[in-house]
Order: sequence, then C-alpha cells, then structure tokens
Amino acid sequence: MGYIDSLVQKVITLLKNNNIDITSSKRLRVPSGQGKTVVCISIKDEKDYILKIVDVTPEIMKEEPIEEINEEIRNQIMYMSIRTFNEIEMSKKCPNLPQLRNIGNHLFQYLIYDNSAYLYYIEEKVEGTMFRYKDTYTITEVISFLEQLIDNIRIMSENDYVHRDITPSNIMENNGKYFLIDGGIGKNIKDGLDITKTGTPIGKARYLAPEQERVTANMNWTFQTDLYPLGIIATEMFIPKTRNIPDKDIRDIQIVAKKWLEKDNSYEAQLLFKKIIANLLNEIKALRFNSITELISELEKVKKEVIK
Ligand SMILES: Nc1ncnc2c1ncn2[C@@H]1O[C@H](COP(=O)(O)OP(=O)(O)O)[C@@H](O)[C@H]1O
Ligand SMILES: [Mg+2]
Repeated sequence: MGYIDSLVQKVITLLKNNNIDITSSKRLRVPSGQGKTVVCISIKDEKDYILKIVDVTPEIMKEEPIEEINEEIRNQIMYMSIRTFNEIEMSKKCPNLPQLRNIGNHLFQYLIYDNSAYLYYIEEKVEGTMFRYKDTYTITEVISFLEQLIDNIRIMSENDYVHRDITPSNIMENNGKYFLIDGGIGKNIKDGLDITKTGTPIGKARYLAPEQERVTANMNWTFQTDLYPLGIIATEMFIPKTRNIPDKDIRDIQIVAKKWLEKDNSYEAQLLFKKIIANLLNEIKALRFNSITELISELEKVKKEVIK
C-alpha cells in the first residue's frame, strides 16, 4: 500500500471513531492545484460523499522531526490551512456549492501523521464527471451551459461572493447539467481579507479575467470577474479548434470573433456572439454587463431568436 493509501486508511479509521462508518472508498485520479487527495466514500445508510485531505505541513516540520506541536507550529499549520478555510466558509454561504457534512461537531479535522500535518473534511458528492468537452455543441447547448453557470454566479453574488476560479476542472457535468465546485480562492466582497496576495495572478491563466492579472489591494470585486471565464469556456465549447490555441489567442477578442464566424456565420451564431459572448469577453470589467438581471434577460432574448 502506498503512502497516500495508508493516509486515507488512517483518516477512515479516525472517521469511524466519530461514528462515520465508511463502507467503501475510492481515490479519484483528479488534478488538484493544491495537492488535495480526493476520495469518493460511501457512508453506511447515507448517500455518497467526497472526502478531501489537504496537506498543510509547514516548512519547519519538514526540516526535522517534530517532538510536539508547539504554538509556532500550530500557527503555521493554521496559515497553511487558509485556502481550505476560505473554501469551507464560501460553501457555507453559497448554497450552489457542495455542502459540508459534519465530522462530530466540526466541519473539519486535523491529523498529524508521519511528521506531516493534514486537514480533512467531507462534502457532498456532485454526481457526474469533471467537465470535459465533447466533440461539438449546438448553439442551444451553449446557451443552456451559460444559463446554468450564470445562475450559479447569481447565487454567489447575492451572497456577496465572487468565485474567481471558474475553469472546466471546477465544473462538474451530469448529462447536460452543470455544477460549480471549489471555492478555494473565492472572495467575500464585503470583507477586506483576501487570501491571494496582491500583485500575484490567481487561478488558471487561460480563464482569468484580465483584471485578475493585476490585482491591487483596493480592488473592487464584482460578479463581472466571473463572467469572463464563461466567455472563454463557451468559445471552447462551440469552436473545437480554439481548445488548443495559445492562451493569448483565445484571450484576443478579434481572433475569437473571426473564428466564431468561420465556424458558423448563421444569424443565430452571430447574435449569440455579438449580444453575449463579446460582452462576457470585454477586457474592461465594467463593460461586461451592468447586472446579472440584464445578462439573463439578454440571453433570454437570444434564446427566443435561436429557438424560433
Ligand atoms: N464535491 C465533489 N464532488 C465530485 N467531485 C469532486 C468534488 N470536489 C472535487 N471533486 C473532484 O476533485 C477535483 C479537485 O477538487 P477541487 O476542490 O477542485 O481541488 P483544487 O482546489 O485542488 O482544485 C475536481 O476537479 C473534481 O474532479
Ligand atoms: Mg479545483
């Protein structure tokens, strides 16, 4: 048994001590930006869940074996946990994100194992698989994707959150139904704290809104930052050829406009591009859409024209 498998077994034993009886578990081979171990678990008499184990070992613990966890180490472990705390806090506030299942009276637990520190928690499993593009999408399918993601952005925005990391790997898909996950770098717009340092880009470069490349300390975050990646993903869905072009090309609206026309110059395709996609992809955040309501109603109009 490998190291990670032993770690997972250890956590499962600890969960049993908390009266969480796990009847089966399967580690998911999924990409994780922050080295999360993701395990699908079945809990006796309950639905399936996802167990996440995050390595939060501070540097000082790596230097030499630790005798006891003193206050300094404890503080550093907390520091390493900030991103996960952020994710947990965001899911508490945003009902569209997977909700956590308590472990005893807590939402998460720590484990010191083999001179390393781990944080683990259990969240609802989103049915389906990580969003992977199929060969082609119709205009109607692209509109349906947009409607669903916009609804997620609406819910987060109503709860004062901006997700900031909308990418295909943070979207789950189940037969044309889409679900957003991973509030790891989400931002509460009412609260001054920001887990990402200013000046450093956050999230996956290809899908980042331009303003995320030059974050300033007093940045005014709005739902408009979450609209940009929808424009990129919709483009990759509708024009398969753009899935492999360099980041700088897909982020160039002139190139995208040209490719959109080459792919489909029908009235409907042009309407969707002009009225919606071009606005989602506007370099200037304030010009994307004034409100989510406005965006929803514009999309509704386009949809009526397309279905007619
Ligand atoms: N609640 C969930 N239900 C189903 N699969 C999930 C869930 N959370 C995560 N995953 C899978 O695990 C992967 C990594 O999880 P994520 O929370 O996005 O970690 P990271 O912060 O490292 O990106 C996701 O891309 C997805 O495939
Ligand atoms: Mg992720």
